[in-house]
Amino acid sequence: MPPPDFSPSAEQNKHPILDKLLAVLPAQGAALEVASGTGQHAAWFARHLPGWTWQPSDQQPQGFASIQHHVTQAGVSNVQTPLVLDVCAATWLPVDPTTRELPCFDLIFCANMLHIASWEACAGLMRGAARHLAPQGRLITYGPYFEKAVPTTQSNLDFDASLRQRNPAWGVRWCEDVALEAAKAGLQLQQRHPMPANNLLLVWQRVPG
Ligand SMILES: C[S@@+](CC[C@H](N)C(=O)[O-])C[C@H]1O[C@@H](n2cnc3c(N)ncnc32)[C@H](O)[C@@H]1O
Repeated sequence: MPPPDFSPSAEQNKHPILDKLLAVLPAQGAALEVASGTGQHAAWFARHLPGWTWQPSDQQPQGFASIQHHVTQAGVSNVQTPLVLDVCAATWLPVDPTTRELPCFDLIFCANMLHIASWEACAGLMRGAARHLAPQGRLITYGPYFEKAVPTTQSNLDFDASLRQRNPAWGVRWCEDVALEAAKAGLQLQQRHPMPANNLLLVWQRVPG
């Protein structure tokens, strides 16, 4: 068995993210996490949101053993088996044969993916979220963003440069550009929460009507 993956930043940011999830979310629901990575977030949030079921997923199944490890360590039973899910895929999840409807979720959670994926992943995330969110469901994205009305920090500029050096298709995204992709899918920004280390937690919901 390979050792479980461990992200020091996920270990740090899971605390302030959980505080926001507890403040924003109802006591129970069904969550789909996209880009689960190591599984530290899935294990922590499922443990502290016991009224929720948590469905982890990632484009890369190589990390699934790590997700299972962190979930087992947390001793939780409300996390489902991880699914392969590429946000750019036309189909995220098949129609449920019992209900004959697409699975829908009260929360779709995506941390730290938009800047470490090509720009088309943003459109893919918004389209898929619009298909799979319950009517009052929330898409929550977390990570670094540039914003037109907020002066950028040097650390975010440096991070953006380092990302683009690693892969020219990557980079810190402008919140306004993400909002345009959200609008095309019928979603809009409902809440903006500044987070430690110049990150934002953004809550997106369906445009009413
Ligand atoms: C920096 S990691 C973030 C992991 C975790 N969410 C966290 O915050 O620690 C980025 C993750 O995005 C995933 N990813 C990249 N492109 C993706 C795509 N098109 N669809 C789904 N996941 C993707 C990668 O496999 C990786 O696990």
